[in-house]
Amino acid sequence: MSRLVTVSRAAKLAGISRGNLQRQIREGAITSFEGMVDLEQLAQKYPSVNFEADSLLEKLEQIIENASLRARSGKTTTPPDMETLAARVNILNDELVETKLEISIFYNIFDKLKSKLKTLASSEPEAAKAIRDLQSWLLTEIDTISEKKFEQYPILATDTFLRIMAAQVRLEPTGHEFFVEGSDSILESGLSSGLALNYGCSNGNCGKCKAKIISGEVKKIRNHDYVLNEKEKIQGYILTCSNTAVTDLILEADEAGSEKDIPEQSITAWVRKLVPLKSHMLTLHVKTPRTQRLRFLAGQYVNVEIPGVASKKLHVASCPCDDMNLQFHIDSRCDDVFTNYITTKLKPNDAIEIEGPAGHFVLHEDQPNPIVFIAFNNGFAPIKSLVEHAMTLDVTEDMQLHWLVPKEEDLYMHNHCRSWADAFDRFAYQPVSYGNNDPVQLLIESLKDNMSEHHFYIAGTDSQISKTKNALQAQGIPDESIFTETA
Ligand code: FES
Repeated sequence: MSRLVTVSRAAKLAGISRGNLQRQIREGAITSFEGMVDLEQLAQKYPSVNFEADSLLEKLEQIIENASLRARSGKTTTPPDMETLAARVNILNDELVETKLEISIFYNIFDKLKSKLKTLASSEPEAAKAIRDLQSWLLTEIDTISEKKFEQYPILATDTFLRIMAAQVRLEPTGHEFFVEGSDSILESGLSSGLALNYGCSNGNCGKCKAKIISGEVKKIRNHDYVLNEKEKIQGYILTCSNTAVTDLILEADEAGSEKDIPEQSITAWVRKLVPLKSHMLTLHVKTPRTQRLRFLAGQYVNVEIPGVASKKLHVASCPCDDMNLQFHIDSRCDDVFTNYITTKLKPNDAIEIEGPAGHFVLHEDQPNPIVFIAFNNGFAPIKSLVEHAMTLDVTEDMQLHWLVPKEEDLYMHNHCRSWADAFDRFAYQPVSYGNNDPVQLLIESLKDNMSEHHFYIAGTDSQISKTKNALQAQGIPDESIFTETA
């Protein structure tokens, strides 16, 4: 009578990363049944997961806190509304009734079996011992039910709470999963989980976020101008930007499988702020209109134009999971019209034209191999975007970052990288200031012996990239495991 849950939910319940759980499934430590995990087995493996009443409150407060943070940052998320909560509680109530009925039927069967065994033991003296053994085994099994109940209580309580506070969405055909909290739109939740869902206006006008419900219930959170035809409505199509998930959902939805699926865009955005980093670097923060966000994949670049002044190709240094708030790294030492204008004249609310995205240096998230990110100097910008995207997607549990710079002060986001290493158990950060030494040589010396399973992402100058690629190949790393910023 144990329940099967998805890998994402199981990881959430056990308090571990999805990558960690997937590794345990690969290694046979946990069994999965067609991508689902048995709650009973999970509870046995993680008996210490403690979910007392206080934790429930803490979690509720956390969700409310997150919601108010989002509200402060311009997003209008709230905890689930009463109607959604009632629908979820109703579903759980139906399950409870069904489970109670099943349990009473099973107890009935046990009682009948006990009395049949008793009768049999008196009428079949030669089999009496075997029957008595069977009786005592049955009684012991029934007794252990109540012990098991307490063992599984924490994880089942967590599961119930999560099912009330958030709905889980699985996308077909990719099998990607994410949670929808509060009354967030399905689209917004999918994007902030790092998925490249198809969309256009985010506002109910273009119809590009159309998806088909395979199972589950949704609720409209905004009226939309785009009109679904009668056939589409009957088939279960909805706009993901205008609906939230009431229950767990399975949706058939389009996702960008590669950079080729991302359309070329032209967006007028606004300067939010210019933040000095260490040394000579600055972060340019840009905000797009809510209804015209930048669809891109981590690692790609765009053409940034200051109207009437100059333009420059810049890698987006932030995660595509926040497509409205973009970051670019500016090296103030560059002596060109674009950089000079940014450092001396640009101010908040100035308009910026963005065209793109372009570039093939993107994450191959379909393969859960351990990842080595290598950034030479300012090649850190696309690497930062890739690292953040890999963390959001939880594609692998084993990542390392090697950032190679001439001098220590060139590690312009050193603390940021250290905070990644602090926050993630299996993220290793290796800063290298190479001075007059050969950076590629130092890098190769710092790598472990057997890295044939790893994927390598390299960003830097053309010569740094090709030298590193050759050195890795000489170490036996296959060409298809090396991804570089240049074509
Ligand atoms: S993104 Fe345009 S209608 Fe949903």
